[in-house]
Amino acid sequence: SEIVSAESYEECRTTADWLLSNTQVRPTVGIVCGSGLGGLAEKIKDPQVFKYCDIPNFPRSTVHGHAGQLVFGTLKGKPCVCMQGRFHLYEGHTIQKITLPMRVFKLMGVETVILTNAAGGLNQDYKVGDVMILKDHINMPGFAGINPLAGPNDDRFGVRFPCMSDAYDRELRQLAHDVASELGYDNFLREGVYCVVGGPSFETIAECRMLHSLGADAVGMSTVHEVIVARHAEMRVFALSLISNRSVMDYDSQEKANHKEVLETGMMRAEQLEKLVSTMVTRLEPI
Ligand code: 6GU
Repeated sequence: SEIVSAESYEECRTTADWLLSNTQVRPTVGIVCGSGLGGLAEKIKDPQVFKYCDIPNFPRSTVHGHAGQLVFGTLKGKPCVCMQGRFHLYEGHTIQKITLPMRVFKLMGVETVILTNAAGGLNQDYKVGDVMILKDHINMPGFAGINPLAGPNDDRFGVRFPCMSDAYDRELRQLAHDVASELGYDNFLREGVYCVVGGPSFETIAECRMLHSLGADAVGMSTVHEVIVARHAEMRVFALSLISNRSVMDYDSQEKANHKEVLETGMMRAEQLEKLVSTMVTRLEPI
């Protein structure tokens, strides 16, 4: 049987070169928009748009609320590339395929990756509409060996055993706090631990209690795989969760998690989240 390796260097190179030959933009910032948060891509000036289905080696996005396109352009003058819609494990793609865009980002010259997602709040102090800066993660699929770096390591991307204790850049987290203060967003900004699960079914009550007792503040189905691949390639990472619902933690509750609620919360806070990210982008210093 064949060893399943990460998406090959040549495959990522082909995709990066195809994109670079079809746009003049040379992005240093790569953005990934989560469910209901694609509006950030609409802030991009002089946009050049590539549908995922037209990009060589790209998987297709199937989730409702995700546009499924890559947008190049500038955000307040900074050259950016933005994924409007991402890929998830539960869509049936391999974990290597869903993280391929991070390697393509790297090969196009991206230095900083900003990721957003919608997540369930496990921390009982969190309210719907809160925005959580990720300071750390718990990779549940990772404990079962589902890690995008499993398989032979290609040293052209990064080292065999990358460090993850500094995954979420301290300076970028500080910048987020500073910008949020200036914008008057302190009252809904949080910082916490994001736990990724495989999905697509939402967590049971027992699972929510377990994850909370393990130290997770929010739970979702994305981001962590991309963070691992981005950090492997030594890109700087910043990530935000929009708390779209509170996880059900007790058996008397009548609340139920649903995707519609996830999208509606996105609409409610989207503008502020976009403003926070775009203001941060203007202040990014080159590495
Ligand atoms: Cl409650 N759970 C998971 N796994 N993902 C979510 C969510 C909950 N809310 C939004 N995304």
